[in-house]
Amino acid sequence: MERGQFSSRAGFIMAAAGAAVGLGNVWGFPTQVASNGGGAFVLVYLLLAFCLAYPALMAELIVGRHARANAVIALPMLSDKPTLKLGGKVVGIAGLITVAVILSFYAIIAGWLFAFAIEPIVSFLGFTDAANWLTQFSLSRNIIFTLCFMILTILIIGAGVNQGIERWSKRMMPALVLILIALIGYMLTLPNAMVGLSHYLTPDFSQIFDGQLIISAMGQAFFSLSLGVGCMLIYGSYLSSNENIVKAGAWVTLLDVGLAFVAGLLIIPSMYIAAHFGVEIFDADGALLNSDTLIFTILPALFEQMGAAGPIVALAFFILMSLAALTSSISLLEVPVAYVVEAHKKPRALTSWIIGALVTALSLTIVFNFSWLFGLVITVTTKYSQPILGLFFCLYAGWVWHRNGALAEIKKGYQGAENGLFWKVWPWYVKFVCPLFIIVMFVHAL
Ligand code: PHE
Repeated sequence: MERGQFSSRAGFIMAAAGAAVGLGNVWGFPTQVASNGGGAFVLVYLLLAFCLAYPALMAELIVGRHARANAVIALPMLSDKPTLKLGGKVVGIAGLITVAVILSFYAIIAGWLFAFAIEPIVSFLGFTDAANWLTQFSLSRNIIFTLCFMILTILIIGAGVNQGIERWSKRMMPALVLILIALIGYMLTLPNAMVGLSHYLTPDFSQIFDGQLIISAMGQAFFSLSLGVGCMLIYGSYLSSNENIVKAGAWVTLLDVGLAFVAGLLIIPSMYIAAHFGVEIFDADGALLNSDTLIFTILPALFEQMGAAGPIVALAFFILMSLAALTSSISLLEVPVAYVVEAHKKPRALTSWIIGALVTALSLTIVFNFSWLFGLVITVTTKYSQPILGLFFCLYAGWVWHRNGALAEIKKGYQGAENGLFWKVWPWYVKFVCPLFIIVMFVHAL
């Protein structure tokens, strides 16, 4: 069976940026900024994203393209020693499990976004009860919309690398950027927006060395760039050898970080606009209210106050969020599907449905045990699994794999790579800086 491959560099960049740009950018990042001292968090995040997450991203992309396989097969290929081979396999499998769990909670949140996107239309048509049902937390709504979202994800992944992932990422990503820019243009004309903007852009330098802030920023950077779970590795494996992988990876990082930053330009001012309209956003101590439900409570309350423009803005906003979620969820499902297709030679469409069904079962388990399970799976996967696995990916790329192997892979699409800045810096980064930093952060956190 022939392996899928992205048709062009642009196709790869759209797909990989689509994988990276998701709820982490449009929801996670602004929420974290709001609850971690505004501009200080932005500054630390930017630093960590470029100095720590980009090298780790490159490790996954290069290993993936070299192996032309999923992580479970790729990591063991980097060594001849049986124990290291076994270790690589274990890391790959741990990534598969993590990715399935991430998708299971991601689908629930994305389902809410779908429901909120449909609400303005249903409301406009006069179905008030249905509109209320869509925006209120209930078992029935959560089940139905999680299912809808998973089915869409399965359909795209079942269609393959070109006809599914690349085709849909190329459509959804530009749409997402356009909606985002249009929304910002409109929102910044509203009262109090500038107060929010200055809170977002003025760092409070006293907070920059706050350990908790740095840990949150690191977790956020790993989650946002989809690291540690073999997702970028598999996308790298679909990148043509003729492409300059260093440049392609830099584009993905720039787009991901850039879109998180731009999403902040929308969300943070929106909160202050909401405050102007009388929506409460801070508690008595000045901490952000409802930091987890910002998007589903504060912003809808704002849209309601906006008169005729409200439903249109709400519609555009939740379509934007749904698109971001979908381009990421397909990358999450691709990881286990690619593994089963490659390792067990199964047909892609059928595999997508079977694995999709398993993940959906996991989602529904969370839906039924929401109060204690939802927060728990998010914390375990994003705060612990992802950085720990990311650490192992760096160790495999930096210590287990021979330096020349990595260089040869980079040189395929980038002649003279050995003289470039990237090659002078990156090997040291994956070998020492990234692992050390991740370990120090963990020790500090515990
Ligand atoms: N990066 C995605 C986001 O920001 C989430 C994600 C994590 C996707 C891990 C794939 C793998 O929403």
